[in-house]
Amino acid sequence: MNTPLTRRASLALLGALAMAPALAAGSNSPRLSAAARRRIGKLVASMTLPELAGQLGTEGAWSPRLAISDFFATNPFMPPVSPEQGAQLHRDQLQRVRAGKVGMLMGSLDLDTVQQAQHTAVHESRLKIPLIFAADVIHGHRVAFPIPLGEAASWEPDLARRTARAAAVEATRFGLDMTFAPMVDIGRDQRWGRVAEGAGEDVYLGQQFAAARVKGFHGDDLRAADAMLACPKHFAGYGAGQSGLDYAGADLPERLLREVYLPPFQAAFAAGALATMASFNTIDGVPATGHRKLLTDILRGEFKFPGLVISDFNSINELVNHGTALDEPDAAAQALKAGCDLAMLADIYVKHLPSLVQQGKLPRSVLEAAVRRMLFVKEAAGLFDDPFRRISAQRYASTDTDAAHRALAREAGRRSVVLLKNEGAVLPLAPTLKRVALIGPFGDDSAHVNGPWGPIHVRVPPVTLAQGLRAAMPGTELRVVKGADIEAHIAGGEAAARDAADWAEVVVLAVGESQDMSGEAHSRAQITLPAPQQALAEAVARSGKPVVVVLRNGRALALQGAVRDAQAIVVGWFLGTETGHALADVLTGAVNPSGRLPVSFPLDSGQQPFHYARAPGGRAAPPDQPLAIFSAHFIGLPDAPLYAFGHGLTYSRVEYGAVQLSHRELPWGGTLTVTAEVRNTGSRPCEEVVQLYVRDRVASVSRPLRELKGFQKVALAPGEVRTVRFTLTRQDLQFVGTDLHWRIEPGEFDVWVAPSATSGQPGRFALLAATRGGA
Ligand code: NOJ
Repeated sequence: MNTPLTRRASLALLGALAMAPALAAGSNSPRLSAAARRRIGKLVASMTLPELAGQLGTEGAWSPRLAISDFFATNPFMPPVSPEQGAQLHRDQLQRVRAGKVGMLMGSLDLDTVQQAQHTAVHESRLKIPLIFAADVIHGHRVAFPIPLGEAASWEPDLARRTARAAAVEATRFGLDMTFAPMVDIGRDQRWGRVAEGAGEDVYLGQQFAAARVKGFHGDDLRAADAMLACPKHFAGYGAGQSGLDYAGADLPERLLREVYLPPFQAAFAAGALATMASFNTIDGVPATGHRKLLTDILRGEFKFPGLVISDFNSINELVNHGTALDEPDAAAQALKAGCDLAMLADIYVKHLPSLVQQGKLPRSVLEAAVRRMLFVKEAAGLFDDPFRRISAQRYASTDTDAAHRALAREAGRRSVVLLKNEGAVLPLAPTLKRVALIGPFGDDSAHVNGPWGPIHVRVPPVTLAQGLRAAMPGTELRVVKGADIEAHIAGGEAAARDAADWAEVVVLAVGESQDMSGEAHSRAQITLPAPQQALAEAVARSGKPVVVVLRNGRALALQGAVRDAQAIVVGWFLGTETGHALADVLTGAVNPSGRLPVSFPLDSGQQPFHYARAPGGRAAPPDQPLAIFSAHFIGLPDAPLYAFGHGLTYSRVEYGAVQLSHRELPWGGTLTVTAEVRNTGSRPCEEVVQLYVRDRVASVSRPLRELKGFQKVALAPGEVRTVRFTLTRQDLQFVGTDLHWRIEPGEFDVWVAPSATSGQPGRFALLAATRGGA
C-alpha cells in the first residue's frame, strides 16, 4: 500500500462528515399563500370524521358510458361488470362523492364522467372540496413514447422531460390532474418485470431521469391546465425484491437503501414532486406501507417532503397478509400512523378511520395531518381556485398535437435504440440492397409495440417494423416471414424462414419478448428468448447470411447462440407508436444510433442480480483468467457482462485520449477538472455518450468498482476532436457510511472518462482532508 493510502486511513476520521444527500428535497415545492393555508386550516377544522376519512379514500372511476375501463377490466381485483351494473356503480359513486367520502378518482374515462363527478363534488357536497383525478400515464396517453427504460438508453434526460411534457398535455385533456409516474426504482435484477418502467440500474442516471420526468409532467406552472402532478414511485426498495420476483420482500440494509434506492426519489422531490407512492414490498421485514421510519422519519423528517404519500393498490389491506397487522382496522391505523396518507383503490380508510378515532385508537390530529397534505396538493394543482381547469370540452376534442407528438415519439424512439454489435459493418442497410428478409414474430407486429403500460387512449395506429422498412427502403424487396410465434412454433415456420434467408442478401431478425413479459406481476425466471424464437434464430443462422438481430425487450436479456453470435444486434425495447419508423431510421442509417445501455446485458440469467457498480470482493478473478480456481465466478461462466452498462456503438468510430486531470490533488473545498479528448475517426457524424466514472480505492466501506458521476452526449463531425470536460468536487465522492450518514473520506480515487463501465484507462487523484486542503 503506498503512502497516500496509508495516510488516508489515519485521516478518515478528520475528513468524515455527515452530509446532506446530493440533492436537497422539496426545494421546488410551491409555497402556499397565507389565504390558501387559512382555507385549508378552516376546512380541516370543520370536517366530520367521515369527511376527513373520505378525503383519504380513492376509488376507480365508474362511467355510465363504459361498463368498466380497460385497466379495470383486466384487473382481477375488479372483475368486469355488465353495463347496467356499471351504471348503478356510477350512480352509487356519485352519491359517495356527494357525501364527501371520496378524495380522488382513478382511471382515465370520458370527460363527461369527470365533469359530472367534479360538479357533484364542488356543487353538491357539503364542503365543496374538489376531487383530484389520477391515472397511470407512464409514457404517453394518445401517442405512445418509448418505455421509460428505452428512453433512459438515450442518456438524454431532456428527451424524457419533453415526452413527459407531451404525455401531460395529452392526459390533462382527459381531466387528469395526477399521474402515477415516474417510476424511479433502481432495477438491478433483470428478472424483475418492472425494470421496463424505470431508468435502469444506475443511481446517477436514475436521478437525472427522475428529475427530468417530474419537470416534464409538471411543466413550468403546476396550476396550468396542462400541468400534471407527478407521483414518483415506489417508495422504497421495490426494485430490490428477492430474486427479482415482483412483490417479494427486499432484504435491504438501510445503508444501501439510502445510498442506492432513495437518491432518485430525492432528485424527484428536489424537482418539485408533491406525491409519492409507498411500495408493496417489505424492507427488512417491515412493509413499506406501514413503515413509519421510512414514510415519516426519513421522508418527512429528513427529506422535508411536504407532499402526499399514496398507498399502492390495496397495499394497506395487505398488511394483514404480510402478518404485520391483525385485521383491517389494525392495518388502517398502522398505515396512517406510519405516514401513508391515501388508500389506493380500497375503502379501508373510509370504513375504519372514523371509528378508530372514536375508540381512541387513533388521534384525530393524525387524520387531520394526512388530510391537510391532501388538500395542500389539491391547492398546489390549482383545484380550489378552479376545479374545472383541466376539464374542457374544447381541449378534450383537440387532436392538434398528434403530429408533433408522433414526430417526438419517432425522435425519442430512434434516440433510444442501442447498437450492441456491428460486425463487418453489416449495418446500416445499404439502399442498393435488392433483397432483405424480415423474419420473426415482431417483424410485422403492432400488438407488442407499446410495452407493459400501453397508453390508455391510443387512437393513432402504431407503425410496424415492416411498414417502417418499406417506407425507408423503397428500392428493396422485403420478404416478411413470421417463422415462429412469440412463444410457440409455427408448423413449417422455420423452413419458410430459412427459404427467405436463402433468398435474401441480409436477414433482419425481429425477436424478443411480448409486452406481457414485463411490467407488474410479470417477472421472468429466465431472461432468455423463448425457445421457439431461439430455434428460429438457429435455423436462420444456418443460411450463412448476415443476420441483424432487432430485439424487442423490456429488460436486459441473456442472449444465447445464434442471437448472440449474429453479425449485428440492435436493442429496440418497446418504442411505442413510431416503432417501425424509428427502427428503420436507425437500420438504414438515416440516423446514426446514439443510445447506450442503462442496464448490463449479462452472459446468463443465473447471474442476476447483476449490475456494474458492484464492490470488488476479496476474490475477484484476474482479468486474464476469468475462470481461475477459487475466484468469484459461476462454474464455466466469467463474472462479467456480455455487454456492459453504458455500452453502445455508432456507425462511426470514436477514439478516447488519455484522462487528464487539472491537478493531482483535490482540495477539500476545491474542484478538479477531468478532461479527455474524443475523436471521431470514422466517416459519419455521430453522437458519443462520454461517461465519467470514479472508484474510491480505500474507504471504511468497500466501494464499487466504478460509479457513474457524469456524462455528456456530444456531437462529432467526421474527423472532429473535442475535449470533454467534467468537474469533480468532494460531494461527488460521498457515500453512506456504516453510521447511515453520508460521508466523504479523503484518499485516493481512480477516475475514467470512457465509453462504458468496463472500458478505458483510469487516472488517479487524491482528495485532501479539510486540514490539509483548507475547507
Ligand atoms: C399497482 C402498481 O404497482 C402501481 O405502479 C400503479 O400505479 C397502481 N397499481 C395503479 O395502477
